[in-house]
Amino acid sequence: LGARSQVGYGKIILLGEHSVVYGRRAIAAPIGLTVRAEVVRGEPGQAPVITDWNVDGSAQETISPDVSHQVAALIAARLGLPESGVRVDVFSKLPRASGLGASAAFAVALIRATAECFSIELSDEQVSSLAFECEQIVHGTPSGIDNTVATFGRPILFKKTDAPSGHEISDIVTPHPIPIVIGLSGVHALTAHTVAAVRAAWLHNRARYDAIFDQIDSLVGEGADALRRGDTAELGELMNINQGLLNALQVSSPELEQMVAIARRAGALGAKLTGGGGGGAIIALAGPAGAEPIRTALHQAGYTTYLTEIR
Ligand code: MEV
Repeated sequence: LGARSQVGYGKIILLGEHSVVYGRRAIAAPIGLTVRAEVVRGEPGQAPVITDWNVDGSAQETISPDVSHQVAALIAARLGLPESGVRVDVFSKLPRASGLGASAAFAVALIRATAECFSIELSDEQVSSLAFECEQIVHGTPSGIDNTVATFGRPILFKKTDAPSGHEISDIVTPHPIPIVIGLSGVHALTAHTVAAVRAAWLHNRARYDAIFDQIDSLVGEGADALRRGDTAELGELMNINQGLLNALQVSSPELEQMVAIARRAGALGAKLTGGGGGGAIIALAGPAGAEPIRTALHQAGYTTYLTEIR
């Protein structure tokens, strides 16, 4: 049997990161960048081996080797193949520790490719729920939004619930594609760390932080309506307010604040950090002048950008 190759999608969170961990709503969308896993059957009687990582052409790990092996072992065990000897090559277009969902995309790609290699049929729900277990290894108390977008690959409104699936999701369909610039701060930040810091603050003063989470939740509700109408001016304003509240949660950083300011000055209708924060990436909603001035301004300040669209 030849190699089986499958992808998981990277994502941006448009509105609602962190508060989504506490049962509030969030909006996320896939981006063009993916993680691809290539799986071949190896010598039976052995644990899975990850032979090679390739991030955008160079050899480096997107997530730590230790964690990725734990993830691979969990997937093999859950699929009933603990000692099937699979060998895995990973090709990532997603930079590591950037808040763009590389770990969830890796899990989804590996689950799908391993299942295909052994002719195991899995529904998308099964893929996503196993990827959720993998995310628990990577970052403790995930909301489930990253693995959901990595699996389904379309824009969603997401809420964690007590339902058996663990969440409610609804599709977000926009009347026209919405251009987004992603800017990388170059500072690696682990979502596990910022999620733990927010939890510590919340445990210390729940009422104070619950009030912030509730405010973010109402921005998300308004944002879903704005997206469905294609109202980018409104969406941009909501993103800016969300950034202020993420700053209040202390998950922003000097680099992220600088990038947000640069993007707004270059005509962005809205700009905010995306994902875990503490470093990682920002997203900027392009205005009438388009994405190029925003990209150019960020490049001049030394930051890497990607262009994506919500569609
Ligand atoms: C990470 O992409 C988003 C967070 O809200 C964590 C989570 O939802 O699991 C920070």
